[in-house]
Amino acid sequence: MNEKPNQKSTDGSRATSRRTFLKKSTTTVAGAALLGGMNLSRSAHAKGSDQFKIALIGCGGRGTGAAIQALSTKANVKLIAMADAFEDKVNWSHDQIKKAKPDRVDVPKERRFSGLDAYKKATETDADVVVICTPPGFRPMQFEAAVKAGKHIFMEKPLAVDGPGIRKILDINKEAKKKNLLVAVGFHMRHEPNRIEIVKKLHEGAIGDIKFFRAYFNSNGVWVRPRQPEQTEMQYQVNNWYYFNWLSGDHIVEQHVHDLDICNWVKGGHPVKANGMGGRQFRIGKDYGEIFDHHSVEFEYADGTRLFSYCRHIPNCWSSFSQHAHGTKGEANMIGHGNMKITAEGKDPIKWRRGSDGHQIEHDDLFAALLAGKHYNECDSSADSSMTAILGRMATYSGKIVTWEDAMNSKLDLSPDGYAWNSTPQPKPGPEGIYPCAMPGITKAF
Ligand SMILES: NC(=O)c1ccc[n+]([C@@H]2O[C@H](COP(=O)([O-])OP(=O)(O)OC[C@H]3O[C@@H](n4cnc5c(N)ncnc54)[C@H](O)[C@@H]3O)[C@@H](O)[C@H]2O)c1
Repeated sequence: MNEKPNQKSTDGSRATSRRTFLKKSTTTVAGAALLGGMNLSRSAHAKGSDQFKIALIGCGGRGTGAAIQALSTKANVKLIAMADAFEDKVNWSHDQIKKAKPDRVDVPKERRFSGLDAYKKATETDADVVVICTPPGFRPMQFEAAVKAGKHIFMEKPLAVDGPGIRKILDINKEAKKKNLLVAVGFHMRHEPNRIEIVKKLHEGAIGDIKFFRAYFNSNGVWVRPRQPEQTEMQYQVNNWYYFNWLSGDHIVEQHVHDLDICNWVKGGHPVKANGMGGRQFRIGKDYGEIFDHHSVEFEYADGTRLFSYCRHIPNCWSSFSQHAHGTKGEANMIGHGNMKITAEGKDPIKWRRGSDGHQIEHDDLFAALLAGKHYNECDSSADSSMTAILGRMATYSGKIVTWEDAMNSKLDLSPDGYAWNSTPQPKPGPEGIYPCAMPGITKAF
């Protein structure tokens, strides 16, 4: 592949800039509430050594950042294997991580794997922990391989892109629990001290009963990786993965899932149904695959509480990454990674200044749990939030009211007919190279 690896991750951050961020991060065990009292049945790390070996699967922007963060915890961590669909990305990422953490990288050529089966080779090494940062369409199969190989896991959100994928994740997690494997998921905001504090106050009734939420992920959008002449259709789609549902789930699933996860966390559960609308107005060219560029969804929780959710990827519009809870006695506003405020009747507002970002803390928490031999599994709530976002997409694509059961029992499987470079993905370009997108009222979306 001639393309220079794109150094930006889907959240727009650059792996190289994380070194500055790492200096500012704390090592607080902010997710201590997640740590149960259960001792692991076997030593979490290499026998007779205090070192944790990690293997990275998915060597893009986030994978590179996540590996550096894992290597920056208080634990003695070494990167020993790397895998990516594309060889140039493995080598690019290796160089970035080596620059940031020269003493913590031991990945000779024979432990750098590329291709669509590279993940299997990484799980066959003697790594103790695998860090999975591939497009979410691959998450279920890669989680399965890691659990079968008896590895502890950090994996990025979202956990799947369709109903069959979420069901598989939940099944495999049962096996992970039986094997006492630790499972961390990249909902990093659940590890931010500010958000932990604000959510605790909301659970204690700081704004009374929640009546509704508003949640936004409005931005300019992310990278585009145009087709190269030598690519098969499968290579093209895997490389330009953001724009294909079987790989990303659409941006409501890929990014807005963060906001939906916060609302579910505050609410202590997931919505029971959704209706919505969306479409594409700006991203209509051949580089943009089949996904929408805007979605607006009304979710409903079991007690009738509503969640009004908006996500848009269109330049030059109002941008916002924020979650807002409105209660019977006040409101809470969580904007970006700072500017948090609770305003309640008859009380002085409580404000938070920009606090630590959870990307480092989530790795600190995982390795602290491993060192302490404590149970730690974030998979089920993360699967719920991933399914919430998929439910939203099902609603905007179908134009119908979709229930949680519809989504959970959905047989709509977005996967291709195989996982080789000559396999055939379901999305097919039209005569102008443009991929058709969902048509509400017509498309079978769940
Ligand atoms: N939690 C966060 O804040 C956050 C931020 C950014 C990205 N992410 C998540 O991280 C994941 C990756 O995003 P990114 O921004 O790093 O994208 P990216 O495109 O930069 O990296 C993905 C990498 O995975 C590789 N890949 C694709 N298919 C593969 C396969 N089958 N096996 C092995 N490697 C494969 C790609 O070649 C690429 O190098 C996504 O799930 C995204 O949602 C999370």
